[in-house]
Amino acid sequence: MTTETQQQDGAEVGTGKDTLTVTDNRTGRQYEIPIEDETIRATELRKIKVHEDDFGLMTYDPAYMATASCRSAITFIDGENGVLEYRGYPIEQLAEKSSYLEVAYLLVHGELPSQQELDEWTHEITIHTFVHENIKSFMQGFRYDAHPMGMLLASVGALSTFYPEAALIKDAEVRYIQVIRLLAKMPTLAAFSFRHNQGKPYVYPDNDLSYAGNFLSMIYKMTELKYEPDPRLEHALDVLFILHADHEQNCSTSAVRSVGSSQVDPYSAVAAGVAALYGPLHGGANEAVLRMLRRIETKDNVPDFIRGVKEGKERLMGFGHRVYKNYDPRAKIIKKAVDETFEVTGTNPLLDIALELERIALEDDYFVERKLYPNVDFYSGLIYEALGMPMEMFPVLFAIGRTSGWIAQWLEMIDDKDQKIARPRQIYTGERGLEYVPMSQRSG
Ligand code: CMC
Repeated sequence: MTTETQQQDGAEVGTGKDTLTVTDNRTGRQYEIPIEDETIRATELRKIKVHEDDFGLMTYDPAYMATASCRSAITFIDGENGVLEYRGYPIEQLAEKSSYLEVAYLLVHGELPSQQELDEWTHEITIHTFVHENIKSFMQGFRYDAHPMGMLLASVGALSTFYPEAALIKDAEVRYIQVIRLLAKMPTLAAFSFRHNQGKPYVYPDNDLSYAGNFLSMIYKMTELKYEPDPRLEHALDVLFILHADHEQNCSTSAVRSVGSSQVDPYSAVAAGVAALYGPLHGGANEAVLRMLRRIETKDNVPDFIRGVKEGKERLMGFGHRVYKNYDPRAKIIKKAVDETFEVTGTNPLLDIALELERIALEDDYFVERKLYPNVDFYSGLIYEALGMPMEMFPVLFAIGRTSGWIAQWLEMIDDKDQKIARPRQIYTGERGLEYVPMSQRSG
């Protein structure tokens, strides 16, 4: 079964077949592997063997650099051209014209809602914002200075014990109510975590307010009878939630899918997503950006800092992306939102340092050659800080927005007949068949 390429006038001409022909030089055998969507199924390689009882060939791809783990119709990214679309709609249009809850509906249901559908969706989420009082009690048991992301991680996981029926993941109706609960309660858990860390009393949800407005109320309300959020800040936060809502198979979404593939309840799967997002290379990067900006101190220190980055002493946080090899479209929108936010809150001198870093980096060969551009985290921390959020809250805010994406991806996975429990293979590099050595005979 050979499929050969021919040379005509020096140019290679294919056969036009959507297959890949592989020659195993160990045996001289050839294999024809189907190509679908510019992808081959790794399991096809298992047919490539030296002996009949061999396991077959595997691929080695530690960070999933060239491995698609699923088919998905939720988010499209063209990293080379800086394009991001949710369910086909460009992120720029959604950020400008939509609201977070409408985007959450779009991600979960696959289509934009009618007015009635949006009203019902909003109503359902709004009436589920309260959490069981026992959740509040157990959150109060955390240390006074507990990181709010750690508290969020634990408390969202704990929701599974309050809704044990959530384990029935094959039941669409049961699934749906957990979707509503997750979207509704995430801001409440996040705000309780914040208030705990601040040593302030927890504030209950205000269901007269919008999704973002209620969150601001739970964060900032003190003695006033009713908290009234500044509509411009409410809008800025809502846009940030939209921008963070989904980003295809990133680390935390893969964690949700991977853990969810064991058929555990969605709260536990989402807790895995929160855990992944906690890391400084993922949701923690915006915190790292602010720390970096503070450390640089003044615009004049930027060239020195850049020199250190180029010498490999450290990374320019908020720059670079596994997928984007162009300006992250979310960073562009956030950069604009920074200006709007600062009109309300007053400017932050760190912005000048950030702008100078970006200016110098975008002209520098080191960054140009490696296609390193600002990512979503480069400017988002500045807005969060302007909103009065301490750095520890940055990944928490990211998690609130990303919840809709995690849920949409989890739902998609449940219905995907191709999916099984995630279970990568390994290349074993250790010893084999050693004889147990009694303690008295061990050296050292
Ligand atoms: N500063 C300096 N050099 C960098 C940076 C950076 N921020 N990012 C990548 N590089 C260099 C890296 O040293 C390597 O150079 P070389 O080829 O000489 O070894 C080259 O660029 C390729 O980098 P990589 O680490 O192989 O790329 P990756 O796809 O594994 O990493 C990344 C992607 C986002 C982890 C990385 O760019 C990074 O650490 N950025 C800083 C952290 C950050 O901003 N993270 C937020 C990501 S966006 C939010 C999200 O989606 O979670």
